Amino acid sequence: MINIGPYQLAGRAVLAPMAGVTDFPFRQICRRLGASMVTAEMSGSNPALRETRKSQLRLANPDDAEPRTIQIVGTEPLQMAAAARYQVESGAQIVDINMGCPAKKVCKKLAGSALMKDTHLVRAILTAVVGSVDVPVTLKIRTGWDPESRNAVEIAKIAEDLGIQSLAVHGRTRACRFHGLAEYDTIGEVVQAVNIPVFANGDIRSAVKAKTVLNYTGASGVMIGRGAQGRPWIFSEINDLLNNKKTTSELFTAKSLNLNHTRIQERFIMEHLMHIHDYYHEICNSDNNVNLTKRLETFSKSEDCKKKRNTEKHTELAVRISRKHICWYFEQMIQVLVDSYNNKDLDSVESQGLKQEVKQLITNIETAKKQFNQLSSRNAQLEHVEHFFGELHTTGDIAA
Ligand SMILES: Cc1cc2nc3c(=O)[nH]c(=O)nc-3n(C[C@H](O)[C@H](O)[C@H](O)COP(=O)(O)O)c2cc1C
Repeated sequence: MINIGPYQLAGRAVLAPMAGVTDFPFRQICRRLGASMVTAEMSGSNPALRETRKSQLRLANPDDAEPRTIQIVGTEPLQMAAAARYQVESGAQIVDINMGCPAKKVCKKLAGSALMKDTHLVRAILTAVVGSVDVPVTLKIRTGWDPESRNAVEIAKIAEDLGIQSLAVHGRTRACRFHGLAEYDTIGEVVQAVNIPVFANGDIRSAVKAKTVLNYTGASGVMIGRGAQGRPWIFSEINDLLNNKKTTSELFTAKSLNLNHTRIQERFIMEHLMHIHDYYHEICNSDNNVNLTKRLETFSKSEDCKKKRNTEKHTELAVRISRKHICWYFEQMIQVLVDSYNNKDLDSVESQGLKQEVKQLITNIETAKKQFNQLSSRNAQLEHVEHFFGELHTTGDIAA
């Protein structure tokens, strides 16, 4: 069992914070499918930006399952402390500090993973943030600045001494950005060096890999980022594998892309799609969200026009966000089939027919994905996904 302050996590797999990805609807679907903790997209610590739509959308959502974890990023210790307080007042139950993000925008200002270079500043930030709130503060780091200066162990010890309650370590240095493969040796060293829970992060895209990384590093848990895009059920797959239940990791692999399983996928994908639209639509029309409403008012003075414009703006936003997520679902389906196509078992003469079917299905999904990207309304998107699965179901089991 992983404990972070008063919170006991029910499983060992958590969702990584991802800007532009881990919004409320995605966090919800991941929680429903077994993620034991989810972190919202990072929020800048600059108070001047608090009123922006982006910042407002990144606040803790009271409907988020506990513990509601919010990530902050910045450089100035006092500003970070104030940001942490603001997040807690807005409902955050855990504050995570980002020292893992290599984005230029963040690093230019020596925030995110760039901070790992300056241990004095790391100390100052951690001291200020931990001292400013009475909720657990956690930290996300990389293995170091570059392959020659992997100082994750040093930072981890500092963090533990200063009261950080858990660590997530991405197995790449800042200089590696997302290139090459994540390495887990440094994560293992961090686990040995501290007594707080450590989450291993980086390139974990299957339940089997999660188990391997946990065994190799001795980490308390795994943090999954891109592996959950278009595949939020990875969390239940990991939980089942770790709990020695009949593994559902086979649920969504090529060999079992059959009728039952695609129906399960359809249910979750439709649910996610509807939730994206409901959520962004509600935000636009909610009077509770005073800041957002204020900003949106600037679009027009007339009430009718205002409402219409707000709705249009947010419909566009929901449509755009849906495109991203639904296309990931299509892409992961294609990946499963490509793996199946490349499977040597299908090279035998008897399997040639099946191989053709798989190839055709890949083409169909690619077409469906392209078409989805052209759609510009909620109903059209929902109908498209429904129609796609309807067709898939009439085709029957393809690789049972
Ligand atoms: C689109 C995207 C956005 C990200 N945003 C954040 C972020 O806001 N904060 C953060 O600490 N890390 C961020 N990351 C890094 C991830 O949390 C994670 O450490 C990284 O993707 C490696 O894990 P993975 O291989 O499981 O994806 C982001 C990664 C991606 C791909």
